[in-house]
Amino acid sequence: MPRRCKTGQFAKKASVFGMNFHIMTLFPEMVMSGLSTSITGRAMEKGLISIDAVNIRDYSEEKHRHVDDAPYGGGAGMVMQAGPVCSCYEDLCRKLGKRPRVLYMTPQGKVFRQAIARELAEEEDLVFLCGHYEGIDERALEEIVTDYLSIGDYVLTGGELPAMVMIDCIARLVPGVLSNDSSAEIESFHDNLLEYPQYTRPEVFHGRAVPEVLLSGHHRNIEEWRRRQSIRRTFERRPDLLEEANLSRKEREYLAELRSGGEPCSDGPDPDSGTEGKGL
Ligand code: ADE
Repeated sequence: MPRRCKTGQFAKKASVFGMNFHIMTLFPEMVMSGLSTSITGRAMEKGLISIDAVNIRDYSEEKHRHVDDAPYGGGAGMVMQAGPVCSCYEDLCRKLGKRPRVLYMTPQGKVFRQAIARELAEEEDLVFLCGHYEGIDERALEEIVTDYLSIGDYVLTGGELPAMVMIDCIARLVPGVLSNDSSAEIESFHDNLLEYPQYTRPEVFHGRAVPEVLLSGHHRNIEEWRRRQSIRRTFERRPDLLEEANLSRKEREYLAELRSGGEPCSDGPDPDSGTEGKGL
């Protein structure tokens, strides 16, 4: 019988309306201490999400609780064994009464993006499988993994940090997790554009003044300025995103001027901008 995972006790009982994240890991303290603070921690306290970390080692049938062994065929490092990983998942399924999607954290996976986060946020339960050493026995992956995900083209020592990154990103999309309901909408990657620059007091800092339009109280002009800043910033920093950006006719003209190296000037509200008040 598996021993109880004390660190998993941080987590509240599975929430009724929100999302339940289950992390299969050899380092439950690591993920729970990171995710129990700040916004995800508060969301757990409010019962909007639940996060529980299950220690794969608890499912070792070995006296010394080993969960890894040398690779068949030779080579460096150790491989996590299929038995404890599969038993851990099966036990979770028994407790939940269902078989949730299993996301395996690996640099060989599809690169995690905001669109994937949005899709995963629709699920009620998600299982994050974190590997270590030289990876996990392929047979366990074949049996339980539904999605192979990476956080970028670099190699980390384990899947815990990627799981924390993804959980943070998905959790903030759960209704009620962010204090301002709309702030998950108006931000970087909304409409495939980067967010406009933000300013707060004082009005002048080290000789740099806040852009005058932001002090004007003229909401339409402010929206127009912000939208242009978003387009300009995306053009300068992440031009690849513009391929799929949703731009009005006037915004496309603005972008064309940016591309031609000109310095486009603001020339009034965009008749194309629709009712969202976000247009130029
Ligand atoms: N495990 C090790 N490196 C990783 C990465 N870049 N993304 C996801 N999981 C990983």
